[in-house]
Amino acid sequence: MKFDIEDKATMKKLFDLSKKAQELAYVPYSHFRVGAVILTNDGKYVLGANIENASYGLSMCAERTCMFRTHLLGYKKDDILCLALIGDSTDDYAFPCGACRQVMAELLNLSCPIIIFNQHGEHVDETVKGLLPYSFTQENLK
Ligand code: THU
Repeated sequence: MKFDIEDKATMKKLFDLSKKAQELAYVPYSHFRVGAVILTNDGKYVLGANIENASYGLSMCAERTCMFRTHLLGYKKDDILCLALIGDSTDDYAFPCGACRQVMAELLNLSCPIIIFNQHGEHVDETVKGLLPYSFTQENLK
């Protein structure tokens, strides 16, 4: 299947599932829930959420759990149509942190759409390259 950012049904599904992913977050310390969802080219939606730890620095972001899960299900970057996310911010968008952007540059195509939802279902549509220009990738190691 293809991903069409103008397709309202798909966008609603991504919003609903990113909210559902938020419910899976384990956040006893920050109480800040982040949900992420990846849509694959065979129509599967893979959910991710942030998982915290009493040793705070070991906490893992929603975007990364989502990308790692998708990878472990056997999907490659060309199989991934988009990643959507939502945070708990009341009136604003919660944009991906720097570490997640770097992992996006590793596991997603640079052109992969990243859709950031706010609580009202409005969204900012970016790409990996838009969020992390001049990224360091395996190309730089050659
Ligand atoms: N968090 C994410 O899940 N994704 C981000 O891109 C930024 C931050 C999580 C980490 C931590 O569990 C909580 O939000 C507060 O920083």
